[in-house]
Amino acid sequence: MQNNSIKVNGLQKSYRQLHVLRDVNFEVEQGSIFALLGSNGSGKTTIVKILTTLLKQDSGNVTVNGFDVLSKPDSVRQSISLTGQFVAVDEILTGRENLIMIARLRHLSNPHQVTDDLLKRFGLTDAADRKASAYSGGMRRRLDIAMSLVGKSPLIFLDEPTTGLDPEARIEVWKIVRELADNGTTVFLTTQYLEEAEQLADRIAILHEGRIIVSGTLEELKKLFPPAKVEYIEKQPTLEEIFLAIVGKKKEDK
Ligand SMILES: Nc1ncnc2c1ncn2[C@@H]1O[C@H](COP(=O)(O)OP(=O)(O)OP(=O)(O)O)[C@@H](O)[C@H]1O
Ligand SMILES: [Mg+2]
Repeated sequence: MQNNSIKVNGLQKSYRQLHVLRDVNFEVEQGSIFALLGSNGSGKTTIVKILTTLLKQDSGNVTVNGFDVLSKPDSVRQSISLTGQFVAVDEILTGRENLIMIARLRHLSNPHQVTDDLLKRFGLTDAADRKASAYSGGMRRRLDIAMSLVGKSPLIFLDEPTTGLDPEARIEVWKIVRELADNGTTVFLTTQYLEEAEQLADRIAILHEGRIIVSGTLEELKKLFPPAKVEYIEKQPTLEEIFLAIVGKKKEDK
């Protein structure tokens, strides 16, 4: 039994002259929450697309749930679900119809039951029969995530799941992500919000200039920086301070 849901080795990807991923290496343990951090344009979505078989790498080995993304893309797809960076709900359909459509596409035997359960879990029961075009941003995002949970995949990709959400809706999504992990689902998420990684992730990796420049648990990342002493009171660095120190330092290196 393999205990890594994702293994990435020597991953490279360029868009013409733009070398987005130069040498990316990391592993994600089964049942854990892994957060990939990086500035705008650092290549987070590119990694998500390669791992979910939407895009082919130039070189390097990538296995997802034990399947090679290049030679077994169908097996990868059947074993994952994805909530992309941009909401994928059909606006013309109601929340309920969106979920039923996915349940049918996934050939589930009980689409109505699955839909009712997800609507309840995501607090969308009252809005279920309204068109998604009339939903708020937070409701759309919740519906989007609910759609990716139809069929219970062992591994879920969430590309910036809380971007644009208000604090309350963000906390709601965090709760859902934690519940998923508690039930054994592996979660790969990208985020711009360092607090989100601090709150949720078992392991955090920072992508910068084509490479993972640091990865580890929050405690491990904090150990990289000795606590600042201010009048004999120890202050632990926040992830934001760690991120800025590392990204800033690397830039000075050049
Ligand atoms: N199809 C494409 N063709 C050319 N360049 C692309 C393409 N897709 C992405 N890029 C470029 O590759 C780089 C990485 O993009 P990517 O979307 O992976 O970044 P990201 O880390 O997800 O950014 P964000 O935080 O803004 O979502 C960017 O410079 C982007 O402009
Ligand atoms: Mg992105």
